[in-house]
Amino acid sequence: METNRGLGRGINFGNALDALDGGPELPLAERWFDEVAAAGFDTIRLPVRWSAHAGSRPPYAIDPAFFRRVDAGVHAALDRGLRVVVDVHHYAELCAAPDEHLPRFLALWRQIAARYAGHSGRLCFELLNEPRDRLTASRWNAVLAAALAAVRDADPGRTVIVGPAGMNSPGALRALAVPEEGNLIATVHYYAPFEFTHQGAGWVEGAHRWLGHTWGGAADEAAVRDDLAEVAAWGRERGLPVFIGEFGAFSAADMASRARWTAFVRAEAERLGLSWAYWEFGTDFGAYDPVCAKWREPLRQALLGEPALAAGSDFRR
Ligand code: BGC
Repeated sequence: METNRGLGRGINFGNALDALDGGPELPLAERWFDEVAAAGFDTIRLPVRWSAHAGSRPPYAIDPAFFRRVDAGVHAALDRGLRVVVDVHHYAELCAAPDEHLPRFLALWRQIAARYAGHSGRLCFELLNEPRDRLTASRWNAVLAAALAAVRDADPGRTVIVGPAGMNSPGALRALAVPEEGNLIATVHYYAPFEFTHQGAGWVEGAHRWLGHTWGGAADEAAVRDDLAEVAAWGRERGLPVFIGEFGAFSAADMASRARWTAFVRAEAERLGLSWAYWEFGTDFGAYDPVCAKWREPLRQALLGEPALAAGSDFRR
């Protein structure tokens, strides 16, 4: 619980170490870490596409030059007193062929855990971003237990984050089997209503038809409130802290709606004691504009402005 409160308010450095070929890309510059720390965030979630930088046969060695790039990101965050979440991102091959890729997935985690054993407790691991496809709930429950054991072998005290199959959607939480042990945080991604948050997103079929979808008003707010209340209730039942590891609205939505939605999700999360990380820092959902070197003020305010904290909330230490 302590660590989850410490995760507090976070932001994803998406499309940096997880960039897809031909997609947007954020160069991982030291100054972005300064901006995030100075703005008042607690945590950087650092998505990493390890599977594109590792051998395809045993011992599935991670490319040393790529490992050094991840090291640089981890250290840049830790050196500034931030927490940092390192995940396995965009491992589509594992989701498509879990049996075939399981040995490679476990070998990746053995290498990652061994590399960072002994690092600050402010570093957390997240086993897999958005399991989907053939990684059904029951398959994923078995795979995650094996991956957790691989991490624990090399780095027993590390806080590990794990989310449900079905792309980490809140509705899939009930099918997530979390091993009975401490030092775990559950995670979900929150993008509802999808027609609002993903309007115009090139990678979502038909998303251009959702353009113009605005967000706000009592019914919209009630829907978010209900969704997040269920997430929090699940966490309470299991005795597990919950981290909303991604939430955000794509840049094609109007800024006023994006800011309203972002502020509301953030406020509800904090009221319920859920930690969070906005998707994302500096590309297509960007709260920050790297070209002008400035925060997009409505989004910065929605994420960090006062007064979202409900009276009596113990969200932050
Ligand atoms: C994916 C991104 C995508 C975002 C919102 C992330 O998990 O890695 O590519 O932009 O979700 O859909």
